[in-house]
Amino acid sequence: MTYLAPHTTPLSRAAMALPENPLRALYPLAARDGMISLANGHPSPDACDHVGLRDALDAAAADPMAWRYGPTAGDPRLRRALAHLSGDQPDSVIVTSGAQQGIDLAIRTLCDPGDTVLVPEALYPATLSVLAACGVTAHPVREDAGGLCLNALEQAIQDSKARALYLTPTFGNPTGSVLSEDRRGALLALCARTGVLVIEDDPYRDLWFDAPPPPSLWEMAGACGARVIALRSCSKSIAPGLRIGWMLATSDLTPHITALKQASDLQSSGTAQMTVLAYLSSGRFDDWLVKARALYRARHDALREGLVEAGFDVPAVTGGMFLWARLPKHIDTARLFETAVAQGVLYAPGAAFDASGQGGEIALYARFCFASNDVKSLKQATDRLAQAARLSA
Ligand SMILES: Cc1ncc(COP(=O)(O)O)c(C=O)c1O
Repeated sequence: MTYLAPHTTPLSRAAMALPENPLRALYPLAARDGMISLANGHPSPDACDHVGLRDALDAAAADPMAWRYGPTAGDPRLRRALAHLSGDQPDSVIVTSGAQQGIDLAIRTLCDPGDTVLVPEALYPATLSVLAACGVTAHPVREDAGGLCLNALEQAIQDSKARALYLTPTFGNPTGSVLSEDRRGALLALCARTGVLVIEDDPYRDLWFDAPPPPSLWEMAGACGARVIALRSCSKSIAPGLRIGWMLATSDLTPHITALKQASDLQSSGTAQMTVLAYLSSGRFDDWLVKARALYRARHDALREGLVEAGFDVPAVTGGMFLWARLPKHIDTARLFETAVAQGVLYAPGAAFDASGQGGEIALYARFCFASNDVKSLKQATDRLAQAARLSA
């Protein structure tokens, strides 16, 4: 793991302990002339409803609340609109500056420095950054093709005495896996029995191809007696630049989360909140999602086909933005990455998602985002990867 450069300025232990986000570190490579980047989880510009958002921005500009301080938990009209999307009560909703702030607030609400949080062994790296910033240890839990393994989770709960479990059960990042409804129920029952609170990070939920995913852990929690904080986002389905997400939490937690948010940023941007409200009120969102799903489905198929032809072992996914591929056998992974970059194609090496920091099996995998490029560029990217694989064998 790479750490930020030592500094002569006196720094907190948290600031010094913060690992560099390995995905953000790829940005300069992605910006190289002619590079096709499959590395970052960025929604496609053409999966963004520019016309609808420009109109929403105009409507937002006419709303005085776009320019004023507002309530920390979010504009009440937006809280109602977001609650309506998931069939919840507005009181459960706290508007956040992206799901990323939700991760931060959830961890800081539940954990003290020195505590442990259970996480999937292949983990979205910015969650690792939050845990490091809070002095919290990540305890990795083994996964299979269906997501977290419940026997491994049970053992990890016993071993770690963790207070919370963080996971992305729907179209996980990086694996793309979906926890089945049965496994969701068993996971919630286990967490209820052992007093572990579940943080459900769910930014990809809307991006399904053929059929909606199983009910969320938040929706199922009550029937299983479990406690869940859910994190949602407008980033992947509307636009990431808005930086608007939301948390769903029970009434014993919402005042504490809101107080921590107030200490952090007072409120999320009023202009962005009013833009999301205007966009949701315009009635364009549902139609737009249908288009985005079809676009991503076609791109998934194209990328997967190209990767299989190039010798990668890559299961299909049923939504989200990522394929998680085992690299071709007998290939030096470091050499493949360098050669791929030299050929003009970038991907996210598996090691970037290693929650244990120990290396091992995960380094034999890589994450490929199918969302950000059109089918023609994806074909070009996999041709370049095939060439890189040949040169690295
Ligand atoms: C699993 C996961 N959680 C949270 C985020 C952050 O999302 P947002 O843009 O809503 O802050 C991402 C973004 O890639 C993600 O993949």
